[in-house]
Amino acid sequence: MVVSVNQSPDLSDAAFACWQDTIEERLGLQLPDHRRSFLKTCLSIRMREVGFDDYLTYHEFVMQGDRGLIEWNQLIDRITVQETRFFRDPAALALVKDYLVRRLKRDESALSVWSVGCSSGEETYSLAILIEEVLAKHESSSDIRYGITGTDVSKKGLKAASEGKYALRRLETLDKRLVDRYFTDVGGSKQVVKSTRDRACFVRLNLLELARSPLNNLDVIYCQNVLIYFRKWRRKDIVSELASRLKPGGILVLGLGEIVDWNMPDLTRVPGERALAYIKRK
Ligand SMILES: C[S@@+](CC[C@H](N)C(=O)[O-])C[C@H]1O[C@@H](n2cnc3c(N)ncnc32)[C@H](O)[C@@H]1O
Repeated sequence: MVVSVNQSPDLSDAAFACWQDTIEERLGLQLPDHRRSFLKTCLSIRMREVGFDDYLTYHEFVMQGDRGLIEWNQLIDRITVQETRFFRDPAALALVKDYLVRRLKRDESALSVWSVGCSSGEETYSLAILIEEVLAKHESSSDIRYGITGTDVSKKGLKAASEGKYALRRLETLDKRLVDRYFTDVGGSKQVVKSTRDRACFVRLNLLELARSPLNNLDVIYCQNVLIYFRKWRRKDIVSELASRLKPGGILVLGLGEIVDWNMPDLTRVPGERALAYIKRK
């Protein structure tokens, strides 16, 4: 097949179905018909880079051996939606803030937080900044420590998150005081200050392999804009597994509308229409 530089080959029904199955089986992500052109674009750009002109042949390559696995890992960065921003959901973060203030009044032990599907780190660092702001106002005789883990399946996202370096335009919506306090200049961009980066750790974790994660006994689990790409039954499985990793009294924060008809006997919904969160009963 001869393909011109700008034209992508047709994605047949059979090839679309094949890729849909693999992506759902390996990542849990559902690619309905309306996302067919998105998939076609992602695949064809990558195929052109590595010299394939047929979706099924490329699929065969991806499915086989170590080279296929390396290629699959490249592809993950293309087919996952990485969109994110600092302080993306103010209502959900306000719930986390209330939780932290109450938690520190009764218990000053170290805080552990998990940002699930952290992409390039903006969500993780927003939570870190929020925690540091709360700690700065909290009157305490001792130093209260915290640790935050960001997990994602995308290696590219995790690398960017670990560096914590962002273009100035990514910080435009942030309060100037927070930018001055939590970022330093590096060339033409800004980097999260080392003391805050040192509190964060970024780890690769596929949500389909959640059961293998050692993360447990968390005060805050924050999972937003990830589950929307999964089937409803899978969302429930994932959220139940996340809830089981909460400390008694801990909070699970989800994206509004990302899960319905789900509850667990030891969780209580936090009242409020603008954010979705649950507290684990003690
Ligand atoms: C739209 S971003 C959301 C980022 C951030 N949570 C936010 O709300 O701004 C979705 C993230 O989920 C990640 N993701 C998708 N499928 C995943 C899976 N099976 N396991 C872990 N992370 C996954 C993607 O790589 C991407 O970084």
